[in-house]
Amino acid sequence: MTQNEKFQIQRRNTLRNLWQKLSGTPDFPVKLVLAALYLMGAAYVCVKQAAWRTLAGNIPLLSPLLKAAMEHALTAYLLAGAAALLALLLYPFGRRAAKDQLQCIGLVNHAGVAPDLLRKRRDKDNPRVTVWEFRNQSIPLQEWEKKRLAIETALGITIVKLTYAKGKSRVLVYAVPAGDDLPEVLKWKDSYLSLDSFVLVLGESYTGPVTVNLTHIPHILLGGSTGSGKSVLLKLLLMQALRKGAEVYIADFKGGVDFPKVWHEKCRMCFTEEDLCDTLDQLVAVLEYRKNAFKALGCPNIDAYNETTEQPLPRLIFACDEVAEMLDKTGADNERKKLLAQIENKLSTIARQGRAFGIHLILATQRPDAMIIPGQIRNNMDFRVCGRADSVLSQIILDNTSAAEQIPKDARGRFITGDGTVFQGYLFDEGQL
Ligand SMILES: Nc1ncnc2c1ncn2[C@@H]1O[C@H](COP(=O)(O)OP(=O)(O)OP(=O)(O)O)[C@@H](O)[C@H]1O
Ligand SMILES: [Mg+2]
Repeated sequence: MTQNEKFQIQRRNTLRNLWQKLSGTPDFPVKLVLAALYLMGAAYVCVKQAAWRTLAGNIPLLSPLLKAAMEHALTAYLLAGAAALLALLLYPFGRRAAKDQLQCIGLVNHAGVAPDLLRKRRDKDNPRVTVWEFRNQSIPLQEWEKKRLAIETALGITIVKLTYAKGKSRVLVYAVPAGDDLPEVLKWKDSYLSLDSFVLVLGESYTGPVTVNLTHIPHILLGGSTGSGKSVLLKLLLMQALRKGAEVYIADFKGGVDFPKVWHEKCRMCFTEEDLCDTLDQLVAVLEYRKNAFKALGCPNIDAYNETTEQPLPRLIFACDEVAEMLDKTGADNERKKLLAQIENKLSTIARQGRAFGIHLILATQRPDAMIIPGQIRNNMDFRVCGRADSVLSQIILDNTSAAEQIPKDARGRFITGDGTVFQGYLFDEGQL
């Protein structure tokens, strides 16, 4: 930016600040007032038109231009006024301010030009969200993503989503006002339970509830550093699965801290590695059995099978809260290594084949260690959610660093999905089980 440009922006900002101080109420419907003034002006000109026309005829040496204006005052007023009003309504207020702010944070192309704000409108699907439409001046979306925090501060907004529009010539910024943040606590209510099989609800984003349908996305990977809210979210999902008639299997090597007695009554618990190995054996055996049963009836999946038989099969869910701890081979002797390899193999079979047969994995971890969860398992966990995390853990869970960038360091129960949706998870306690 040249010195001259800097000076111009400074000058405009000073005027803007002065205007803001004077105008006081930011939500004052200025455009409506201007439109009303325009209509009142039209009525006034309409009333006066005849008198002006007579006056123009009576004054001898009047310039032809003034004479024409007086004779056709109404038409001239309507045309000029409509053009001005149209420009005003089409282009949002604050265009120049937005461009200046983006220039100040360095969101510019190689020629030093910042994006132009073309339009601001309410999102049709979500009245809370405003869509800012920018001509992006050839600045790729990745640059916008990189400067996301700076853009939020510059424009006074919280960004919900960034997308291209009109090919790649426009960028749409979906945003809510900066103060309008997600609540810190959202208590679970039974009325939130989805009626659709087999949809589980996780929490609320700026654009509504966040859900996962295990029929389409069979396995879930949850991540987040300690205290981020993984166990609460995991239990929220398992509670809903139980309510929907699923059988739940839980590996808990933390000595029952996270899963008190009430869970032991409703779920099959594994407290040791041997126990876990047996449970996974059973699940793989069920998988094989279902494979043959479905084949015999020509059913492609559990929903089709349940529609054709009188004895519907339940979905089976295997959950492990600290999967990296469980699979960690560090310091293990040969025998334990063998056992862990078997556990890995079985998890991997379920991850690859479980979807059609209604057998699902929900795994959580806080360890930023890519080697611990084998690729075969990780790659099949399509629904990824990460809470507060450093960039290494975020990268492992989501394949990007968005959790480190977008989840505040003191957040509890705040998560981001693989597709960039930030949400507040419902707070659920065992009393509601
Ligand atoms: N959705 C939520 N809304 C509000 N507060 C929450 C939410 N989830 C968790 N918390 C708070 O955060 C605390 C820690 O949650 P949780 O035990 O689930 O964390 P964690 O990620 O499992 O931690 P660790 O890795 O140490 O087991 C809870 O006791 C609760 O007070
Ligand atoms: Mg936990």
